[in-house]
Amino acid sequence: GGVTTIDPGFKNTGSCESAITFLNGEEGILRYRGYAIEELAEKADFLEVAYLLIFGELPSAEKLLKFHNDIRAQSRVDEDVKKILDGFPKSAHPMGVLSSLTSALVAFNPSSVNVDSEEEMYNAIVRILGKFPVLTAWTYRKRAGLPLDYGDASLGYVDNFLKMMFKHPNDEYKSNEVVVDALDKLLILHADHEQNCSTSTVRIVGSSHAGLFVSISAGIAALWGPLHGGANQAVIEMLEAIKDDDGDTKKYMAKAKDKSDPFRLMGFGHRVYKNFDPRARIIKKAADEVLADLGVEDPVLDIAKGLEKEALEDPYFVDRKLYPNVDFYSGIIYRAMGIPVEMFTPMFALGRLPGWIAQWREMRLRKEPIGRPRQVYIGENLRKFKDIENR
Ligand code: CMC
Repeated sequence: GGVTTIDPGFKNTGSCESAITFLNGEEGILRYRGYAIEELAEKADFLEVAYLLIFGELPSAEKLLKFHNDIRAQSRVDEDVKKILDGFPKSAHPMGVLSSLTSALVAFNPSSVNVDSEEEMYNAIVRILGKFPVLTAWTYRKRAGLPLDYGDASLGYVDNFLKMMFKHPNDEYKSNEVVVDALDKLLILHADHEQNCSTSTVRIVGSSHAGLFVSISAGIAALWGPLHGGANQAVIEMLEAIKDDDGDTKKYMAKAKDKSDPFRLMGFGHRVYKNFDPRARIIKKAADEVLADLGVEDPVLDIAKGLEKEALEDPYFVDRKLYPNVDFYSGIIYRAMGIPVEMFTPMFALGRLPGWIAQWREMRLRKEPIGRPRQVYIGENLRKFKDIENR
């Protein structure tokens, strides 16, 4: 027999048991493996958090070093990947390119597909953690017309990524502590968020035993959309549009509330937070600090703050419990670091990578069945076939 009830958008359907991320949307609480997001953002670095999410415990110095070394050993990609990248038009959106390249990695690393033992899983995990930052940096550099280089094993994971992104051919690369710390923090804040759209996608693709890399590739595709990770790009574009419209926030607030207008206040609202997104609080503070440290003044920061204030006082937003989410201020920080708008969502992907991996690994270790929801059929009853001349 069929099912009789449905839950569009799975608003109220649990898909799994998970020990990775705790989220209480009413109270605005987020914890990775039991650790408060505020504390991790303050004290940990991104790779430590990646280890924590994936393996469940904070690593000792020794374990972290081994993890980092194993990742470093995987930080080359087959040179032929450059040919694939070359085939894309320069105007291609980096998220589409990244999703394709991540899936192409399977062809160059076929042993990463059938990963049944923990050891095989580990090898696939350090591979993708090593190679994904290279693909991300190359995607950007190709657009920017810069040569495609590899990183520097002497640097930390995040610093190395920044070098791969921004080092110009004849310049010395100088690490910028403010930028490294800020990016570390942003990546940590994005690292996991339980069963969101892209993570559920990763788990469901992985549940067919399709392999880690393609599962991640599908997650990247899901993250691309403006209702999910793509919101960080959409927020800056919206703030820029408001700035060019004489900073008329009232007009955009009215548009967001008008149900006949598809426009939404980007960076506002969340499926599970009916209170402040704790990540948004941390990022708002970080935006002020990073811009001050870098000596950057960005007029859209003031527009964002004004918009937030108006929304938090407006009955439409109050009644619906719509608060700023993680994407509302993140783009302002990315931009201050010199990361171009179309790379904002790839930055989210880089941050979310450990979460996707952790959730995929948990799903496989728990031997979860293939994901296969049911439906309520609302189509035609049995009909008689009509020959083409009689239609
Ligand atoms: N602007 C105006 N109205 C909104 C907004 C918004 N940003 N978000 C929700 N609403 C309204 C919505 O129209 C609905 O009103 P009504 O009850 O009168 O029909 C009510 O609030 C509930 O919204 P919903 O669309 O049913 O809620 P959802 O859980 O399906 O959607 C969301 C959640 C995040 C997709 C949505 O809030 C949204 O589109 N926000 C803007 C895009 C955005 O910032 N996305 C990033 C999410 S956080 C990070 C991430 O996942 O990447």
